[in-house]
Amino acid sequence: MTDQIVPAVQDRVKIFDTTLRDGEQSPGASMTLEEKIQIATLLDEMGVDIIEAGFPIASIGDFEAVTEIAKLVQNAIICGLARAAIGDIDRCWEAVKNARRPRIHTFIGTSPLHRQYQLDMSTEQVLDKIAETVSHARNLCEDVQWSPMDATRTEPDYLRQVVETAVKAGATTINIPDTVGYTAPRESAEIIRMLREGVPGMEDVTISTHCHNDLGMAVANSLAAVEAGARQIECTINGLGERAGNTALEEVVMAMRVRNDIMPYQTGLDTTRIMQASRLVATVTGFPVQYNKAIVGKNAFAHEAGIHQDGMLKNAGTYEIMRPEDIGLAQSSLPMGKHSGRHAFKVKLTELGIDLGQNALQDAFVRFKALADRKKEVFDDDIVALIDEATATASAERIKLKFLRVICGTEGPQSADIVLEIDGTEHRHTATGDGPVDAAFKAVEALVPHQATLELYQVHAVTEGTDAQATVSVRMREAGKIVTAQSSDTDTVVASCRAYVHALNKLLVRREKTKPAGIVVV
Ligand code: KIV
Ligand code: ZN
Repeated sequence: MTDQIVPAVQDRVKIFDTTLRDGEQSPGASMTLEEKIQIATLLDEMGVDIIEAGFPIASIGDFEAVTEIAKLVQNAIICGLARAAIGDIDRCWEAVKNARRPRIHTFIGTSPLHRQYQLDMSTEQVLDKIAETVSHARNLCEDVQWSPMDATRTEPDYLRQVVETAVKAGATTINIPDTVGYTAPRESAEIIRMLREGVPGMEDVTISTHCHNDLGMAVANSLAAVEAGARQIECTINGLGERAGNTALEEVVMAMRVRNDIMPYQTGLDTTRIMQASRLVATVTGFPVQYNKAIVGKNAFAHEAGIHQDGMLKNAGTYEIMRPEDIGLAQSSLPMGKHSGRHAFKVKLTELGIDLGQNALQDAFVRFKALADRKKEVFDDDIVALIDEATATASAERIKLKFLRVICGTEGPQSADIVLEIDGTEHRHTATGDGPVDAAFKAVEALVPHQATLELYQVHAVTEGTDAQATVSVRMREAGKIVTAQSSDTDTVVASCRAYVHALNKLLVRREKTKPAGIVVV
């Protein structure tokens, strides 16, 4: 259990969250401005030290998001990413400069592969570029982070040289990325030790670790780096990120908390907000959390085997190393129903770690009542799905589903009659299809013509029973851009149609904020 006595002085490890930058680089995990602001606000409230809010040169949308987050966030350092180019760094500074505590994070590839194929530069040219760009960034901003991309595949001697050059040029944090998720814990620690011992001035900068999870070792590699002297961990909520993702914030933070006896480090994180953050990120990105995911998976605290249940009833410590409430997960309690009032609903939300403003609470209560009218028992997972649905529709969407009626059954053709509100005007269409979902999607497409292809259509039941809500996930691709959206309802066709409409809304936003060509995505 995690109620141990923490020694008075422990080394502080800073938590650098890159959900909005590296996380958003996962194909399909794009987020709107409102969604990014929501996530940044929560990260700030939960005590994240640094929020990497985006890559300002990458698109107008990224620039706007970093700028807005920089203005809004109260406590955390707001960081923007920039390649080793003066234009990138200036654009990054433009976006972060209004933050209470701004940071520029600039990087360049240093491994032989990156030097030869991505940059076409010699070792000397890369060193010159580092000196030029880091000192330019430092002239703009006091807080400059520098990363040698693909550090773990860079020759050790050369890695020492590039880091030394960045430190001399004024970098205040040196981040060591395992860009392709290639390293292993022992090596991760050795690299940090080698830099601490071999680079003059290293004692005056913060060493950071940034690990990808291609071999499933990101968390272990990050913790090994910390043991060797790193004092900043770059991570994302739910481990979101390029390919197999980044170090999962909830895992490193809980590992250091639960095993504080052997990893005596402190973070400033309020771990009771972890579940809330996990759900928010899963909802806005449409990336569901795998059931057996450590810390935040649906089964992380579920005990099925009889012997486990027996032990749990006698003493929870027999099979639990942390308490659900440590991460903001309520103990499962009795389901709610249509007679449950506003107060009980509010108490339930608090138990579930969900904190809504007055208007959102009223809206959620109305949705809860509507659900309770249709469903005998409303379980915790139903309420979470209902709040997720409200979150997904919170931003001003141009297309809204107003009405849907389908005809289905053994005798075809199945058809869907649909009304969409598009930019404030209602439009109606009826289409036939191969089943009610196909018919509904065709009707939507007739009203909102597009070239996007449907890459994923997935349904899963939120709880048991024939009256269970279904959560539908939809992934669509248009001109290289991928968006993912989700919706839940007791009616699977309605959930499908809403998820499809959310995805189209996201595509509209993406179209408006297209990335300029030639951006190197890292
Ligand atoms: O993985 C990586 O190398 C990165 C850098 C930009 C830090 O994301
Ligand atoms: Zn990365």
